[in-house]
Parts: sequence; C-alpha cells; structure tokens
Amino acid sequence: MSATPGVEDERRMDGGAESDGLDEATRRALFDRAAAVIAENDRGSYTVPAKGLYPFQWNWDSCLTALGQSHVDERRAWQEIETLFEHQWEDGMVPHIVFHEHDDGYFPGPGVWGTGRATPTSGISQPPVAGFAVGRLFERARDSELARERARALLEPIDRWHAWFYANRDPERTGLVALIHPWESGRDNSIDWDTAFERVPTEGVAPYQRRDTQHADPAHRPTREQYDRYIWLLERFRRLDWDNARLHEASPFRIVDPGFNAILIRSCLDLATVAEALGESSIAASNRARATRGLAALESLWSEAHGQYVCHDRVSGEAVDSASIGGLLPVLAPIPAARAHALVARLEVLGEGVRYLVPSHDPTDPRFDAKRYWRAPVWLIVNYLIVDGLRLAGEHAMADRIERDSLALIDVSGFAEYYDPISGEPCGGASFTWTAAMVMEFVRVSP
Ligand code: DGY
Repeated sequence: MSATPGVEDERRMDGGAESDGLDEATRRALFDRAAAVIAENDRGSYTVPAKGLYPFQWNWDSCLTALGQSHVDERRAWQEIETLFEHQWEDGMVPHIVFHEHDDGYFPGPGVWGTGRATPTSGISQPPVAGFAVGRLFERARDSELARERARALLEPIDRWHAWFYANRDPERTGLVALIHPWESGRDNSIDWDTAFERVPTEGVAPYQRRDTQHADPAHRPTREQYDRYIWLLERFRRLDWDNARLHEASPFRIVDPGFNAILIRSCLDLATVAEALGESSIAASNRARATRGLAALESLWSEAHGQYVCHDRVSGEAVDSASIGGLLPVLAPIPAARAHALVARLEVLGEGVRYLVPSHDPTDPRFDAKRYWRAPVWLIVNYLIVDGLRLAGEHAMADRIERDSLALIDVSGFAEYYDPISGEPCGGASFTWTAAMVMEFVRVSP
C-alpha cells in the first residue's frame, strides 16, 4: 500500500536518487553529517530544533524531523511524533511548543503562556504536518507490524486535531481554516501579515526581554514591534483562558493562508489513506470529506494577478496583496494540473531573481529582506514540501532543481535554520534539526 500514492515510486521511476547530480560518496557524507546534527539535538524522546535558540519540542519541527530519523531508527521516528501527541489538549489541539524541561534561554516561556498544563505547553498550534509525516512513515515501512501498530495508535489523535482545526478556526464552515497568531503559520514574520498585523495593538504589553536575539543575529529575526504584537495576541488569548471556542472571534488577526490549508488538506488525505489501509473507514471518510471541501475552497485564494495563491484577510474580507511562499505551498495538495503548472512557471520567474530556490518571498517586492527570517530566506522544509508536491504533479524538472539548490546550500553554508536566497549565507540558528532531516530525505541513502 502507499499512503501518498506513488510519491516514493515516482522518485524511483524518475531516477530521483541521482537527480541531485551528487556521487554516492558525497551523498553518504552529507547523510552522515545530517544524522550527526539530529543526534546532537536528540533529547531521548523528542528532538530540539536547535540548541540555545529553541530548547524545547516544536510541533511541525518534530513531525518533519521524524522523516529523517526514520532512515536511521524507525522506532525513534514514531516516538518523536508520539511524544508530541502525549501533550494534545482535551479539545483536540496539538500545541506548537511542549516545554519538557526548564530553560530560561527562550522567550516566551511557560509562565507567559500560562496554559496551566501539567507539562507546560504553548496555547496555539502549528502547521499540521503530522498526518503527512505518518503517511510517509507508514508508506516507507510498507507492511511492517511495527508501522501498523504505531500508525493505528496515532490515527484517532490526528483525526481529532484535524477536526479541532475545522471546528475552531473555521466557525462559518467555509472549508478553510484561519490562523489567529502569526506563530501558528510557522512563517512568523511573513510579509503576508504586515497589513493585518497593523490591527494588533502594542499598548499594554507586559515588559519582557527577548532571548532569540541573544542566540541569533537580530538582523535575521523579527523586529521588536512584531514581537510586541505577538505578545499582545498571546496575552489576549491567555486572558480568555485559552478557550478555543472564543479565540477565533477574539483575535484581530485572522488570516486564511493557502499554504497552511494545503498542508492540512494533504494531511487529511494521507491520514485517510493510512486509515483505509488499517480498516478505519470512518476516520478515512471524514478526512476525505474535509480535504474535498478544502480543495474546492482553496480555489477562492487563486490570484490571476500574481499567478499563484494568496492569503485572505478574514477581518477585512480582502485578498492579501503579497506573493509569498505560502501561495506556492498548495502544490503539496492535489490542486488542478493547470494550477500546478502555473506554480512551476512562477517558480521559474522567482529563480531569475535569486541564486537559490525557493525564496520565501518574491524578490521583486520592495519588502523582500534577504536575511530576515520569513521575509525572503530559503527554508529547506518548505523546499521539501514543494518538491514532494511537484513530484506528485509530475513536475520533476523543477523538483530536481529545487533539490539541487537545497543541497548546494548545505555545501556552501552547512545546516543552517534558513539561508539568504541570493548569497546562500547561513541565517538564524546553526546545526538545525529539521534542515538536517530534510537533507536525509533529499539524499535518500540507506544507513
Ligand atoms: C520563535 O520563537 O521564533 C518561534 O517561531 C515561535 O514559535
């Protein structure tokens, strides 16, 4: 069986293993270096994204890290996702951070979130890649009893998380969920949010000291004003006791992100495929239904002017005039072939403005800021998700090019958190876990 029908087969048929142009020894060396980065950040049952900068467990980091781990130790890979789901909230939400251990080196810590959990967690969520990751692990292990048992145990928790998104972040049943905090997107300071974020006040925020800028170059990180707004939203939600039934309406920031929704749609589909293989027809049916509605609604986010998808501001009711990577990520979902093809054309244009694909924002936009977090830099996890979607859509030439660019970045700048798309310089944290995991996925060497 195959959780994401044909992806791994497509790679083999396409000779994907050689498409990066590297010889076997180079690929093996890259794989070993990547595995060492993950081992260095492994805390036993979860992996920190990077020492110092991110000393806890992050939601989508862990799920994507499990893909890399699966090449070395399948049990450890399942455990990474299971540990995250041990901290799922009763309402179904899976938090974006689990604070397993005390560490003063990160702000905002558990005291600021104030979610009152036995093991503290944050109070918002993150891109739901768990269904996608479980689909991939299950597909990879094929019929192993271990995979069947571990996947079966995760089916219901992931299904509840998907249901939670649609119930709490799509109260009017549009088929698309909204973000209520930029941190939920994973693309914290994207240009996509600039206009909507102006609506979030900065007054009255309790005094705080940032820690991220002690670990990473402040010029690579969000600004002070953006942090004030992140914290204002957090404090507002905390005052509402993290009651998810109220947070969507209470947030002055409600953005429908095509990339986030595409990830959710793809995870619903992959979860449905695993559920079908395990005879769980009701979970399969509800996830397929969510994906079908989501895919139909995604079409409303297409922008002819930009030749890609764009965000929708649910508060103003307007499309967001910003061409970011969030509008390319829908290729991860089974969008119409013409749309996938148009996204390839868009990637070609972006490739004329930068040395390394895929920049997280259009380089012709005056707001493009080459080294600042999600305002231009290349992220290997996004490259991986785009490559995966392109291969499913049969767009192998562009997928190969993005893989080559990704590995070239490692060659010039090591396992950074993100990269300047023009110079290739490393940005943010170093020895970064999910970057390493994506390298292991790209080079596909067996240990
Ligand atoms: C951070 O602290 O930079 C994170 O992205 C928030 O999760």
